[in-house]
Amino acid sequence: MSDKRPIGVFDSGLGGLTVVKELKKVLPQETIVYFGDTGRVPYGNKSREIIRRYALQDERLLLSNGVKLIIAACGTVSSVAKDTESELPVPFVEVVSHAALAATKATKNKKIGVIGTAATIKSRAHRNYILSHMPDAEVYENSCPLFVPLVEEGITSVGDTMAVEAAKRYLEPIIKEGIDTLILGCTHYPVLSEVIRKICGDGVTLINMGEATAAYVKEFMTENDMLSQERTAPDRYLVSDKSESFSEMARTLLGSDDIEAETVDIEKI
Ligand code: DGL
Repeated sequence: MSDKRPIGVFDSGLGGLTVVKELKKVLPQETIVYFGDTGRVPYGNKSREIIRRYALQDERLLLSNGVKLIIAACGTVSSVAKDTESELPVPFVEVVSHAALAATKATKNKKIGVIGTAATIKSRAHRNYILSHMPDAEVYENSCPLFVPLVEEGITSVGDTMAVEAAKRYLEPIIKEGIDTLILGCTHYPVLSEVIRKICGDGVTLINMGEATAAYVKEFMTENDMLSQERTAPDRYLVSDKSESFSEMARTLLGSDDIEAETVDIEKI
């Protein structure tokens, strides 16, 4: 059987595109409907109640587009609003648990770092998953509130002093604990991976939540007979506020020139 319905993916902004990039590598025949809440980004400094309300609206928007599965390609939603899955008629995939499991497999010295938004770090979601798989692991966490705005503004290269200085400030306290593995616990962060790599050095394995999640999604869809055998429609990229940096980043990250984001009114959903 071939299930041609699209996969729905959402994030507060463009960070979830790092998950789409990984999905496309392993599931090229699937159609994606992406929603980036560019009008309300960032989520990571908001309360749990607001994040849940936004997540429910984002999920409803994707459902109205006939998706067969929803991926919360957002570390923040995955950490603090995972329970919204109980309201969904389709399977829901979060990004935290798969990355945490990948980190426990990658670490040699059992010292794992986690960086994410303030809400994600406060939730301790990554820590709890890591410790449930590896109770003797040591987990060092730090929130990086400036990273999401830097990525949304396109300030992401190793030549950008602002990005490098922010990375030093956030990463040095956990690097000095001797971590050998670092979870990029926010889907925006892989865009900064050159900067993060420069500060961490080559001895630290960086875990990209998108990569770990895409592998899981492929496995899940295969087991549940949800795969599409052929692509029948173009991908769609929806945003809650027109943003040039979104379309630009989508084109760069996904290596396609013909991505044009469509604006939707998320408050009316
Ligand atoms: N990409 C989102 C995440 O993974 C960013 C959250 C935010 O908007 O602060 O957490």
